[in-house]
Amino acid sequence: FFATDQTLWLFGYGSLIWKAEFPFHERRPAHIQGWARRFWQGSHDHRGTPGAPGRVATLIESPGALCQGMAYRIDAEVLGPLDVREKNGYLRERVTLHFAEGDHAEGLIYLATADNAAFLGAAPLDEMAHQIAVAHGPSGANRDYLLHLADALAELGAEDRHVFGLAARVRGITEA
Ligand code: BEZ
Repeated sequence: FFATDQTLWLFGYGSLIWKAEFPFHERRPAHIQGWARRFWQGSHDHRGTPGAPGRVATLIESPGALCQGMAYRIDAEVLGPLDVREKNGYLRERVTLHFAEGDHAEGLIYLATADNAAFLGAAPLDEMAHQIAVAHGPSGANRDYLLHLADALAELGAEDRHVFGLAARVRGITEA
């Protein structure tokens, strides 16, 4: 589905924005409408541990919201390994991608919903920042994930009060 010459668009809103470890044909800045990026998914296996889980990005349905990210045009078979890598509570959903250049296309997102075991949900920004500042896992520091994302979004010229608010707090905690 969504195939043009057997390729499809995958929208990245988390680590995929700055780190795509799969082959792709092209990448284009894009946004999706009606979704908000939130650090509401727990990570006990990548950016934290079961005793001190980290927080990573997921998408929350949010009418009127807009989430900026990076779209990748990939061969359909690239999704197989991604599904395995992201099986920790993430589901696929179809969305319309609005490219920065004004055109649009159908694509897909992976998102972690409230019904997965690792989901943490909302918390005060300061509380989330403290959790992110100390969490480490096999993929590295939770702090680095957040700050890489904030830097990548700034580079895109994207607005994201949630991410930039968290990043400012985490920098304040870890650079104090
Ligand atoms: C991302 O956009 O970085 C992402 C990809 C797969 C699962 C969750 C997030």
